[in-house]
Amino acid sequence: MIVIDNAKDMRSRDNGKPCVLVPTMGALHAGHGKLISYGRRLAGKSGSLIVSIFINPTQFGPGEDFEAYPRTLDEDCSLCAAAGADIVFHPSVAEIYHEDSPEITADTKLIKTLCGPTRPGHFDGVCTVVKKLFELIKPDIAVFGKKDYQQLAVISRMTRELKLPVRIIGAETVREADGLAMSSRNRYLDAEQRAQAPAIRKALLKLKKDTTPETSARIKEAGDIIAREAPLGTITYLQVVDRGTMQEMQTIDRPALAATAVCFGKTRLIDNIEIDAIT
Ligand code: PAF
Repeated sequence: MIVIDNAKDMRSRDNGKPCVLVPTMGALHAGHGKLISYGRRLAGKSGSLIVSIFINPTQFGPGEDFEAYPRTLDEDCSLCAAAGADIVFHPSVAEIYHEDSPEITADTKLIKTLCGPTRPGHFDGVCTVVKKLFELIKPDIAVFGKKDYQQLAVISRMTRELKLPVRIIGAETVREADGLAMSSRNRYLDAEQRAQAPAIRKALLKLKKDTTPETSARIKEAGDIIAREAPLGTITYLQVVDRGTMQEMQTIDRPALAATAVCFGKTRLIDNIEIDAIT
């Protein structure tokens, strides 16, 4: 495995073989390991598997954790090598952005719900960097985790609208034994917060299992579980949305997604669950 830190070398590595990209911001954990191994299988023996590690400043809002975001390049590279990556792309901010770099705007309809309202500009930053990575690396396939479901929807839409020649694949969320979705931010939780955090998954499972078609009753019950079992957490949102459009749903009459963000102190955890239409 090699590490490339500049755009010029990254562009010139194109060897015509199928290329799979797993974009990350580093602070890699076992969940990323699974994503990278999955990318390896998609690339096959002869293809190239590239993991980008870039903490993208434009997707962090004021007061968010850009400065504090864990930077663990050596450990990240070991994990990438063990999971079968051929190349780690680790550029500096100056390699990616110029003063006059144009910003790509995320589809506004997809960001009216969930993380959109509380993270203004976040998805524009994600779209901007992902498009840049696609242009530099020219992958045939890019893999994104379904934990960031809205991000996956926004990137899929951008790729389709701009006709970028990349196939976007969503990979299942990887979980700890107690159900907590793996996240680079879990390391910020103290012992008490960590013990309460699995209530998020419990609440979403209950929301999915409920039989009432109305979303409001399900949301109420799930919210009660989080309030009761994770009193250190504050719910930023708990919503049921249409899986394709990300618009809020009152009744589960088409494929839905229940998603939540819960803050433990400054640590914001997100998770979601797919729900089939009640017919
Ligand atoms: O999901 C992430 O880690 C980031 O949002 C991404 C897709 C690498 C863009 O910076």
